[in-house]
Amino acid sequence: MPDLRTIILAAGKGTRMKSDLPKVLHQVGGRPIIQYVIDVVKAVGSLKTYIVVGHQGTKVEAFLGKGFCCVEQKKLLGTADAVRCTEKELRAYHGDVLILCGDTPLLDKAVIKQVVQKHRKTKASVTFLTATVNDPQGYGRIIRNERGQAVVIREEKDADASEKKIKEINAGVYCFRSQDLFSVLKAIKLNKKKKEFYLTDIVELFVNKGLKAKTVETQDVSSCLGVNTKEDLAVAETVMRERILKNFMLQGVTIIDPKTTYIDADVKIGKDTVIRPFTFIERDVHIGNTCCIGPFARLRPGVRLSDSVEIGNFTEVSRTKMGKGTYMKHFSYLGDAVVGSKVNIGAGAITANFDGKNKNITKIDDEAFIGSDSVLVAPVTVGKKAVIGAGSVVTKGTKVPPRKVAMGIPARVR
Ligand code: UD1
Ligand code: CA
Repeated sequence: MPDLRTIILAAGKGTRMKSDLPKVLHQVGGRPIIQYVIDVVKAVGSLKTYIVVGHQGTKVEAFLGKGFCCVEQKKLLGTADAVRCTEKELRAYHGDVLILCGDTPLLDKAVIKQVVQKHRKTKASVTFLTATVNDPQGYGRIIRNERGQAVVIREEKDADASEKKIKEINAGVYCFRSQDLFSVLKAIKLNKKKKEFYLTDIVELFVNKGLKAKTVETQDVSSCLGVNTKEDLAVAETVMRERILKNFMLQGVTIIDPKTTYIDADVKIGKDTVIRPFTFIERDVHIGNTCCIGPFARLRPGVRLSDSVEIGNFTEVSRTKMGKGTYMKHFSYLGDAVVGSKVNIGAGAITANFDGKNKNITKIDDEAFIGSDSVLVAPVTVGKKAVIGAGSVVTKGTKVPPRKVAMGIPARVR
């Protein structure tokens, strides 16, 4: 496969988000939008990625960490200007350059591959992705000549009434021959209305020079969504959630009511586990096989459940491990706990894991029985097969030996 490098445009202000957070760091499915774009880039086999950062660039760079080549766009003068910022890095490079926007979290790697493949097959100067959508508002429109060739991308602000009716839009995914890109980029003029240099103007310039501009039209319209507003963010969240749930169902997870089930992107769930309605599972949660979760359960980051664990209604679990066959069926909270197998967490039992300064660990060994409505003020250790009486307060530092009973306020071991 010939060399492929990528530019991700992520310097924009995201004005329409009306937010203090850089747009590309807003989350969809529990992960920043730009993370999805980066994952797609990796999956299509790009050898090097340049990320153009600008507005609150240090925050974006801090999220990305090392291993990325960030290029700063000092003044936000539009998408063509953003690409120009990478010219120094790519001057000596003679291959294909993929350009993606950092605000498109739903992109599909197969479609991007198709764009690159068509680009190579047709030896075009640019190949870009389009989609025909019901509501094209806000996107660049594709203007085709009488032979059906795309000759212009017209931005919303510059489109006349008839052009605004065009429903084929620019998805913001381009594959360029790098020499053609940088030689023509300079010729793009400032758009007077928006005071920006539009990358999209390059298509008309290419066509006028006799350079080939090709398109791939995708039927997967939702994958082209660019997040510009909080409303777009909610649409992206819905699409992502449907994808995540579908994937789990294909892997053998039973989801009783997808409409009220919220699962983040970085979650693992084993087969024959049942997720009941109104359940919220956040990122970095791993659930084993044949578990039963919900209804009305919230699993937060750092939860690890072995097989056959039951988490029932009105429960919250955070940064906690639970062994095989452990039950926590009603009204409970466990935070920073290490729980063995076949433990019973009674109705309303909770760990008081935060003392105002630190989060402390609660250890509960195999087959222990935690009575209803008891409070374990961490750090606490409950030995194997030990019993905590209903309504007890087990105070800080208590170690209940194996097979012993502790009860009362404060709990005494008997
Ligand atoms: C852009 C396209 C439009 C397309 C749409 C697809 C242009 C002029 N228009 O419009 O044809 O339909 O994407 O989603 O390209 N950015 C920078 N520096 C800048 C300006 C923007 O890095 O100076 C980045 C943004 O962070 C963003 C991306 O470029 O990730 C696109 O910019 P945005 O302002 O969202 O463009 P759209 O108006 O959505
Ligand atoms: Ca956008």
